[in-house]
Amino acid sequence: MEILKLIEYARQAKEKSYSPYSKFRVGAALLSNDGTVTQGANIENISYGLTICAERTAVFNAHLEGKTGFTAIAINSDSNEIISPCGACRQVMIEMCGNIDIIMSNDSGDMKVMKLAELLPLAFDEKQFYNKRDT
Ligand code: THU
Repeated sequence: MEILKLIEYARQAKEKSYSPYSKFRVGAALLSNDGTVTQGANIENISYGLTICAERTAVFNAHLEGKTGFTAIAINSDSNEIISPCGACRQVMIEMCGNIDIIMSNDSGDMKVMKLAELLPLAFDEKQFYNKRDT
C-alpha cells in the first residue's frame, strides 16, 4: 500500500478521536502483512491518566482482530507539526509489531518515516526479561 493512502486512513481515524480535554485529535493506521489496515484514535478520560493514545488503540484493535504481522503505522494529528509516538506507545509497538516503519505526518503534506528501533533504541525486551536473576 502507498504511504499516502495509509496516511489518509490515519487522517480518517482522527475523526473518531474522543479528546474533549486536550482537544488534540490523533489518528493512526496500522498496516498488516496481509495488506489490511486497522485504525486507532486517541480516547481520553476525565481521569486524565487513563487516556490511551491513537497508536495503542490501533495496535490493540489489530490484536483483537487476530492480526499478527505488521509493516508500518501512519500517525496524523491536527498539529502543524508532524507528531511522533510517545514512549509508552513505542514500547507497546516494539513488542506487538516489531521494527515497523513509523510514518509521521501532518495535514500540510509533510512526513517523516523512521524505523521504530531508531525511535526506541535498547528497548526492554523478552531476552532481558528471561535472563532475570532467580530469586
Ligand atoms: N496522543 C496520541 O494519541 N498519540 C501521540 O503520539 C501523542 C499524543 C494523544 C494523547 C492525548 O489524548 C493527546 O494526544 C494530547 O496529548
